[in-house]
Amino acid sequence: MTNSYAPEFRISVSQLRPGVFIRLEGARWFDHPFLFNSFKVKDAEQIELIRQLGIREVICVPERCDVLPLKPGRGEPEAAREENGQTARTLDHLLNAKRERSRRLREKKERIARCEERFNACIQAFNAILSSVAGGTAQSVGQAVAFVDRLADYFLEDRESTLHLMHVVDRAETAYSHPMNVAVLSLMVGREAGLPPEAMNALGLAALFHDIGKAGLPRMLLHKRGDMTRSERETLEQHPRRGEAALLGVGGFPDAAARVVAQHHERMDGSGYPDGLTGEAIDPLARILAIADAYDNHTNQPDPGQSLTPYLALSYMFGQQKHLFDMELLALFIRCLGIYPPGTVVELSNGAVGMVMSVNPRNQLNPSVVVYDENVPRREALIVDLADEEDLRVEKSIRLAHLPPKVLEYLSPRTRIAYFVEPE
Ligand SMILES: [Fe+2]
Ligand SMILES: [Fe+2]
Repeated sequence: MTNSYAPEFRISVSQLRPGVFIRLEGARWFDHPFLFNSFKVKDAEQIELIRQLGIREVICVPERCDVLPLKPGRGEPEAAREENGQTARTLDHLLNAKRERSRRLREKKERIARCEERFNACIQAFNAILSSVAGGTAQSVGQAVAFVDRLADYFLEDRESTLHLMHVVDRAETAYSHPMNVAVLSLMVGREAGLPPEAMNALGLAALFHDIGKAGLPRMLLHKRGDMTRSERETLEQHPRRGEAALLGVGGFPDAAARVVAQHHERMDGSGYPDGLTGEAIDPLARILAIADAYDNHTNQPDPGQSLTPYLALSYMFGQQKHLFDMELLALFIRCLGIYPPGTVVELSNGAVGMVMSVNPRNQLNPSVVVYDENVPRREALIVDLADEEDLRVEKSIRLAHLPPKVLEYLSPRTRIAYFVEPE
């Protein structure tokens, strides 16, 4: 960086040279061939393109320049330049590529909207099933099994599926569902682990009903902040066993899934509950469920202000909670979510700031990122697919607290981190 505090200033296109970071003032994204409205000038050809677009002045952003612009009047006089046929052709080509890019962007947004619709329908269906399973009818178990079948289907058949961040701003639990999130994440890991269909179904059912044993516990206890008394803790720690007992009592609910529910708080080092099981003694499905459950608890605290960002939650689990989880499965979990899981705010290698929206486990270093640009209205925000941009990569994760409020509002008005999948 040349100068961290210098204010932006307007320069003539004749002052441009490679390494100068510029912003195209008032330019609409669709009207120019560049991926971003702000970028570092790459070469002379790019300067010529800017000139060909009829742009006479741009804004220089000194803090992101490698070199400062030329002094006014030192560049070639504009009048002396002739229309360059080669550049015009390049420009045409780039504008066509841009039109193709905006078509793909529109498609992507439609796909995300469809994914959100399916997600909301699933939440509603699940909430209805949850209340009827609590009532204990065989018919409701049949519905639950069919529901998990459909959900697991998204992950099976070796289809590629992309994990999307859902838009949940509602603080009420009607739009966010911890069990659904845990089920989606567990099944994603299960698929990566190569589980057969029966195991996937047991895993999905166990994930959806893992906390059913909390029903009937005092509300005050469930929502308690801060330290618990010993007896409060003992009561809460009964919920895996209460859940298992309740599910075994529901005719038709698979025993294997009920056993996984009983073990979802067991930890590899024996520090879990209710039985303090260690390592191999814990059902592998329960080990998967434990990871997905812990991650969702880190990222969706009752008070959203206390939640860890997805990136920090993974770092914490991988760095400081290794002993609690099955390391092989935790590695698979990270492979599914990517190093920068959806919901992480990141800085890209060109200095742009964005939020990871989706990740494909087969290409986890190249997520899709929605990019902050003050010149683009939020609902039209650019989503960059890093798999398509060879010059662009994620540089680092940024803490939400370090973002200016207007950037945070643009990128992340959601209060809950919820995921859903879209089969390719
Ligand atoms: Fe639990
Ligand atoms: Fe849970």
